[in-house]
Amino acid sequence: MNPTPPTRLDAAHFDSKARQWDENPVFQERARKIADAIRRAVPLRRDMSALDYGCGTGLLSFPLKDELGAILLADSSRGMLDVLAEKISQHGVRNMTPVLLDLLADPPPAQRFDLIYTSMTLHHVPDTDAILRIFHGLLNPGGHLCIADLDQEDGSFHGLDVDVHHGFERAELGERAVAAGFQAIDFQTVFSIEKEQETGKRDYPVFLMSARSAAA
Ligand SMILES: C[S@@+](CC[C@H](N)C(=O)[O-])C[C@H]1O[C@@H](n2cnc3c(N)ncnc32)[C@H](O)[C@@H]1O
Repeated sequence: MNPTPPTRLDAAHFDSKARQWDENPVFQERARKIADAIRRAVPLRRDMSALDYGCGTGLLSFPLKDELGAILLADSSRGMLDVLAEKISQHGVRNMTPVLLDLLADPPPAQRFDLIYTSMTLHHVPDTDAILRIFHGLLNPGGHLCIADLDQEDGSFHGLDVDVHHGFERAELGERAVAAGFQAIDFQTVFSIEKEQETGKRDYPVFLMSARSAAA
């Protein structure tokens, strides 16, 4: 008998989670801690253009919005973007623009960014090298990349039946970033997600990798 193929967490999966996303206090706290880590890694300025890739409902961009210029918030889930658009409207935010975009499938935007950040999305993107190259191509010279994601784990975070990367080994991800053209690679531990597993409570650390494209 063939084993059941692993499930991909596609846009329909995230559409179904979008309305309840912000009710999870762990997601809220994780975003605040990642925002703090981005502030430590990057001297933020009001004239910086930014891309939040895999933005979900915008939990990471909301705490950063008053320290940045125009922010493009991209996600492949229409449901997430609908919730985000409502929040932008409710709060009268002027510098955040949602866009439906999967950079591995769609043409990249024409604009370039001073900062790209992405939270808990890289493990959902099948081709890590390709997305790193695309991020590099979307940055202005000297631009900053900040990736928050899981440290390498045994697959128990999502379950072995789910087709995602099982976190990332820091040194290896750093080497992949260098191969994509990045320099000044640095890592911070920013958060730990506690989950109840059959074997008891498990902690899953979350890192922030920061990197830069070469100055002109
Ligand atoms: C775990 S959620 C994180 C959401 C948000 N960054 C946060 O920290 O609350 C992952 C997000 O990545 C989006 N995503 C997954 N694959 C994507 C892709 N290839 N392109 C764009 N967004 C993607 C999902 O729709 C989802 O909103």
